[in-house]
Amino acid sequence: MSKLVISDLPDSSFEGKRVFVRVDFNVPIRDGKISEDYRIRRAIPTIDYLIERKAKVIIGTHLGRPKGIFIPDLSLKPIQARLSELLGKSVNFTGNVVGDELKKAIDTLGDGEVMLLENLRFHKEETDNDPEFSKELASFADIYVNDAFGTSHRKHASTYGMALEFNHRLAGFLVSRELKFLTRIRENPERPFVVIVGGGKIKDKIHALKSLIDKADKVLLGGGAAYTFLKAKGINIGNSIVDDEMLGWAKESLEKYGDKIFLPVDHVVADNFERRKNCMVMDDIPEDLQGFDIGPKTAALFAHQIKGTGSVFWGGPMGVFEVGDFSAGTTQLARAVALATWRGATTVVGGGETIAAIRNAEVLDSEITHISTGGGALLEFLGGTDLPGISILDNKENEISVVAS
Ligand code: 3PG
Repeated sequence: MSKLVISDLPDSSFEGKRVFVRVDFNVPIRDGKISEDYRIRRAIPTIDYLIERKAKVIIGTHLGRPKGIFIPDLSLKPIQARLSELLGKSVNFTGNVVGDELKKAIDTLGDGEVMLLENLRFHKEETDNDPEFSKELASFADIYVNDAFGTSHRKHASTYGMALEFNHRLAGFLVSRELKFLTRIRENPERPFVVIVGGGKIKDKIHALKSLIDKADKVLLGGGAAYTFLKAKGINIGNSIVDDEMLGWAKESLEKYGDKIFLPVDHVVADNFERRKNCMVMDDIPEDLQGFDIGPKTAALFAHQIKGTGSVFWGGPMGVFEVGDFSAGTTQLARAVALATWRGATTVVGGGETIAAIRNAEVLDSEITHISTGGGALLEFLGGTDLPGISILDNKENEISVVAS
């Protein structure tokens, strides 16, 4: 069901109003520097839109998992700087999440100005979905907007509890776009529909994988997922990583869907991750070696399966792509997915590692139809779970003459 989006309201609804926007700026920061800002850039259209309509924009996000205590490395100071840069205007920041000082600062916020709150998870009431804390957060705003798809699977104060305090709960443009493409993939993918899954443990992806295998016309498996399936087939995988708990399920899936599951036919192997002296391509992985990437035959096989598809979903790299020796498989796959977009397929890619893999392969954002900002939220959504932060938003069908009071 479509959700009511900020652009569904008359422009005048926002003028002079305090609009709380929950974003997901949980981005990687190393030595005080943001190494990947995709999630921030994707929220800019919503913030721009509200600034242009003269709202007083209050931005809330978490960063990491500080568990209710102040951790200097998880302060949003670096995000304030990047956000100011991207918006082309200075963003106010008091270093507070709640309290009188913040309240005073919000009271003096001018129309079209932006205030960034400090890391919401510095207060444990946030993750506890504490009702008092939710009420206090809600007291700072007149309108609630969720543009944090990546956190919408969490029933926290800023994603759920505070939203209950508002008459209307709106989706931002990021959330609206995520729902459009992910719902299409989940419910009505253009066919043939190819699903590519890689990355580490299958266990974390099991719900999404179950639902996607059922819907897909072809499933291509690489990375840790592939080794588990290869082992379930009785193929030697040497010391490669394997999800032993998932072997039973992998066997069942092979019995039920074997004709649509494609597994690697060759591998880039080495002694171990630290000692890469014996790095080579092999069809089978001997006892004492470990697979770290799909081999060239597999990359070509996978690229061939992607050609001519109606839609593609890709989550998880084919190998340890951060290391030059093991990056070729993922790079070739990223380029094959980009080519599928140019050939007219709807391509959807998700998960932080996959985004990094796309960057590594020098594939442009415009060469993928939709790059999801979600990690866990994406997997839960694709697995068919209702996300609390999304369920709580107004449905379009219920639209009434919405003018913020
Ligand atoms: C994410 O990075 O997946 C989201 O920001 C949610 O973070 P969390 O798993 O710490 O709730």
